[in-house]
Amino acid sequence: MVNNTIDRRLSIAPMMDHTDRHFRYFMRLLSKHAVLYTEMITTGALIHGDRQRFLSFNDVEHPLAIQLGGSNPEDLAECAKISENEGYDEVNLNIGCPSDRVQNGQFGACLMSNKNLVADCVDKIQSIISIPVTIKTRIGIDDLDSYDFLYDFINTTRAAGCNTFIIHARKAILSGLSPKENREIPPLNYERVHKIKRDFPDLNITINGGFTELSEIKLQLNHVDGVMVGRTAYQNPFMLAEADNILFENKNPAPLRASILKSYRDYVDKQLLQGERIKNLSRHIIGLYQGQPGARQYRQLLSRATPKDKNNIQFLDDVIEAISYSNTEL
Ligand SMILES: Cc1cc2nc3c(=O)[nH]c(=O)nc-3n(C[C@H](O)[C@H](O)[C@H](O)COP(=O)(O)O)c2cc1C
Repeated sequence: MVNNTIDRRLSIAPMMDHTDRHFRYFMRLLSKHAVLYTEMITTGALIHGDRQRFLSFNDVEHPLAIQLGGSNPEDLAECAKISENEGYDEVNLNIGCPSDRVQNGQFGACLMSNKNLVADCVDKIQSIISIPVTIKTRIGIDDLDSYDFLYDFINTTRAAGCNTFIIHARKAILSGLSPKENREIPPLNYERVHKIKRDFPDLNITINGGFTELSEIKLQLNHVDGVMVGRTAYQNPFMLAEADNILFENKNPAPLRASILKSYRDYVDKQLLQGERIKNLSRHIIGLYQGQPGARQYRQLLSRATPKDKNNIQFLDDVIEAISYSNTEL
């Protein structure tokens, strides 16, 4: 059965050190509909670490998925239950990260070669939560890169109860490439993901990897159920401003950069009062004026937040004033 409760036409990828709750709030100012993902959180961190720091979110972030990293079915199930109780809408398993650290922990992309263990994890999680458990994976790893291998992985984990897959359309090479290289060097193969959708029409399939334009994303929706965007959402977030109009049925005018910035400024003001540091908030909006007049100065000003500016909204107000001189959108 396809889970139809979450509209997955657009989602923003989990990105370590990037998709924290502040960035997700910022994303929500650009699209009311995109599904948002946390950074990967390991089961160890969630069970033994500062839980509230990892789990807290703002209500506007819904629909919101937590991404878990781990391979012990009991631990994953415990973390999934904690996440459901906290109010997350989906639990996503990371079966795509190629980093050494993750491989040493026996999870991430290397788990593609252990489909039965992944199926056990899905089964265990699904038995104790009622929100969906989904898998984010690659099209293959190392020499295990045939279509049949991917088909088999999907088929086995589907039988355990996963009906939503996010597939990064390139394989991971587990030794010799850094995570960054693993996002650039193995070639993209969108057709392979399209074929998975054709062969499993009942599954909800999201494609990921290399999307930079809404027009391409819209075309992909002829082949799959959803598109996940990672780096472009961070580096050129305004690309998403028309997403709700182009991909969804929104008829209101798309937001302007200045209004997004003003709304984010009000959010920052509240966060500062709660003791958050401005640097942790300002870093996420550095790409907002990408390619626009004044972008360079905007970036430079934003990256100058010093400890002295720590709790001072005036810092951001000065940046807003500077960009409003050089950039007048109509
Ligand atoms: C800085 C950074 C951190 C990432 N961290 C994660 C992560 O925590 N979990 C995950 O599944 N993928 C992670 N990814 C991979 C992205 O989710 C996505 O699959 C990849 O960037 C390809 O999509 P894109 O071409 O739209 O960027 C990360 C990517 C980047 C750039």
